Order: sequence, then structure tokens, then C-alpha cells
Amino acid sequence: MNKRIIDYNTNQTFSGYSIARDPASDGQILVQDLNTYSQLVSRIIQGDSQAVLQRIPDNTFRSCITSPPYWGLRDYNIPGQIGAENTLDEYIENLVAIFREVRRTLTPDGTLWLNIGDSYTSGNRRTRDPDKKNIARGMNYRPPTPEGLKPKDLIGLPWRLAFALQADGWYLRSDIIWHKPNCQPESVRDRPTRCHEYLFLLSKNEKYYFDSKKIREPSTSRKGWRNRRTIWSINTEPNHYDHFAMFPESLIEPCLLASSEEGNRVLDPFFGSGTVGIVALKLHRRFCGIELNPKYMDVAYKRISELIHP
Ligand SMILES: C[S@@+](CC[C@H](N)C(=O)[O-])C[C@H]1O[C@@H](n2cnc3c(N)ncnc32)[C@H](O)[C@@H]1O
Repeated sequence: MNKRIIDYNTNQTFSGYSIARDPASDGQILVQDLNTYSQLVSRIIQGDSQAVLQRIPDNTFRSCITSPPYWGLRDYNIPGQIGAENTLDEYIENLVAIFREVRRTLTPDGTLWLNIGDSYTSGNRRTRDPDKKNIARGMNYRPPTPEGLKPKDLIGLPWRLAFALQADGWYLRSDIIWHKPNCQPESVRDRPTRCHEYLFLLSKNEKYYFDSKKIREPSTSRKGWRNRRTIWSINTEPNHYDHFAMFPESLIEPCLLASSEEGNRVLDPFFGSGTVGIVALKLHRRFCGIELNPKYMDVAYKRISELIHP
């Protein structure tokens, strides 16, 4: 089982990972680093994130990096999924409740990095026709226009969620614009094409772990380095896996580097195809992924297996 993978930072090779399904714990997927952190285990747990988180003790994770399903954009076709709520308020309430559990499981110096995109009201159209230029945006349902908004309104969903989390006790520390230079074209002529999403940095307490040196960037005005700025230009990455919304690894790396140290545990309660797990392994962190859809558990299993058995 043990194979070699490339160390992210140093390009050195190292060996000693195994991946297996654990029949004793409902088929959880266990990934074990048998070498660097002997006996330390990462895991992917199938289930609803709120229910699974309730079984995890306080102060377990140094950081959480995640991207919940966006409201009304994609139907993952599974009961209990977040994002298919009929109202915006319900969607935000569900996420606030899940992230309350996330906060409890974070260490006192822990942070949450939350990626979320915006969308437009449907104007009470109940489906979205396939967009010729963007097949993945075809939908078999769309939620009704929220009260107080009009057809064609931009919902402002990321900020509504950020404010709700702030009101629930999180410290809202930064909004980061994830600029996608290779964004999908849109068939619109009455507004600019959207080419960004948000990444919010929130903390459990006023003071928290943040290693700014690990993510500093080259200075543009003089030689040397400067503190990381809030606009991150990162291309989406093509993939051959059956998952619509994979994170690019380079979006996750700075979040992990700034918010955790080697050996720490990091959480992704909407694990999808497992990008947070992949980057965590490459950077010698342990991860816990929670995913409702068994089909995506399989995708994550395949991706991680391909990493450790190239
Ligand atoms: C935007 S995707 C995450 C993609 C992920 N960042 C990646 O790189 O592949 C959101 C994921 O949340 C999962 N999901 C939806 N509702 C959930 C719930 N209640 N509990 C756990 N996972 C859920 C979906 O199945 C989907 O895979």
C-alpha cells in the first residue's frame, strides 16, 4: 500500500500513506500517514455535516476550509442536501447552524475559510435552461425569488451569509476576492460577466493563529515581500472527475498554510471531491472530510488513491 508522493514545498519524495475503507465505522475512508506522523489518521465520513459534527468533540480542528453548495445553483440530487432549500432564509439558517457546530469543534485559535459565490434571482422561472456556453449551469429546479427582491436582482448571498455568521458569534476578519481569470462565459448583454467569488476569513475568537509570513507575496514596488493582498487571481482547474464544483488546489494552499501547522487537523464539512484532503496531505496536515453524497465519497477516494498510488 505504501507509495511515494511529492512533497509540495521541497519537491522531495517521501513514502508511507495508506487508504482504506473501514467496515467497522460505516465505511469511513481512512487515510493514514505511516511515516511522518506515525499512526495519525485522516478520515472522510459519509453523512449530513450537522449530524456528523455533533459527534465530534470540542476543540478538534485548527482550521476549517470549505465551500458549501450555493443556493439554487446546482442540484446534487440527494435528500438532506444544502442548497436546495425553497427560501433563502432557510438556506442561511441551515448554514449558520452547521457553522455553529464547526465553531465548537475548532480550537480556540481556529479559523474558518468560507468560499461562496453569488447568484441572481430567478424571476420565478422554475428551471434554468442549459447555458450553451456553460453546460454545468443547467438546472432542473430554481427557488422562487426571495421576498423583497425583484427578478434579475443580484442576491448578495455571500454578504448575507457573512453577516448572519457574524451575528451568530464569528469574527468576520477578511473578505478575499477569488478572481477567476479563466471564468466561464455567460450569455448576458446587460451586465458584466461575473468572474469572482468570495472567500471569507472568520475566526472563533478575537485572537487566532495566522501565519502571515507563509502566504506573503512578492512586492511590486520594491524588492522583497509584502503582506498578502485580498484579491487572489487563480484559474479554475479542469478535471476529469464527476464533480461540478472542485476547488483549485492553489486556492486552498494559502488558507491551509496561514491557518495550520504540520500535523494539525483541518476540517471540510462539504468535502465533495476532496480537494482540501489532497492539499492537506501534500502539506502534511491531517484532514476530516464530511460528505453527504456517497458518489462523491467515491470520487474523493479515487483522487486520494491516485495521489498516493501514482
Ligand atoms: C461545492 S461542493 C464542494 C466541492 C469541494 N470543495 C471540492 O473541491 O470538490 C459542496 C458539496 O457539499 C455536499 N453536501 C451538500 N449537502 C450536504 C450536507 N448536508 N452534508 C454534507 N455534505 C453536503 C455536496 O454533495 C457537494 O459535494
